[in-house]
Amino acid sequence: MNAGRFLSLEGGEGAGKSTQARALAAALEARGLETVVTREPGGSEGAEAIRALLMQGDAGRWSARTEALLFAAARADHVERVIRPALAAGRWVICDRYLDSSRAYQGSAGQVEDAAILALHAFGAEGLLPDRTFLLALPADIGAARAAGRDGHAADRFAARDTGFHAAVAAAFDGFAAREPARFRRIDAAQPPATVTQAMLDALADWLP
Ligand code: TMP
Repeated sequence: MNAGRFLSLEGGEGAGKSTQARALAAALEARGLETVVTREPGGSEGAEAIRALLMQGDAGRWSARTEALLFAAARADHVERVIRPALAAGRWVICDRYLDSSRAYQGSAGQVEDAAILALHAFGAEGLLPDRTFLLALPADIGAARAAGRDGHAADRFAARDTGFHAAVAAAFDGFAAREPARFRRIDAAQPPATVTQAMLDALADWLP
């Protein structure tokens, strides 16, 4: 049995992560690989319950520190109940957001120290990192316009934040990708969707059958 691989998709609002996660899974399945598409916050029963706490209510419902704890708790359950078992069964896990979203949103944009977020992750999820992380990069203003068109007035606690917050998130992701080139592949998400999917496949060529 082939070893499973753990892939995460990251980026700001409206970058097309969910669509691309499904498209990448379909392309990998066409090559005979078994995939699991999942998301954060959420992806397991317990983590979806925590997601509801995180996404609903006004923007100030939780402080960035409390958010960091809730996201880490959700991630711990998701990793233990869904991600590790899937990898152990040889499946490819494609996760729509993961640890780097905590580092960008609660960390850089929310001013929680990166070391604190990594310490929570070391405890909660025993430090599990993706084998490869795709940053779907899009200027924050274009992403916000796309997300607004998609979500209408039902924007969640995060999408409702101001442009300065989303610009800080985008800059944080760019910084992670630049500092961790072995794990990250930065992809221009303004390209046509099929081009974005192909760019991810090209970046996995070394692992594909
Ligand atoms: P999404 O399902 O539309 O991607 O929404 C999830 C929101 O939660 C998004 O605005 C990013 C935010 N988020 C964090 O702030 N920290 C995290 O660790 C994760 C996974 C998501």
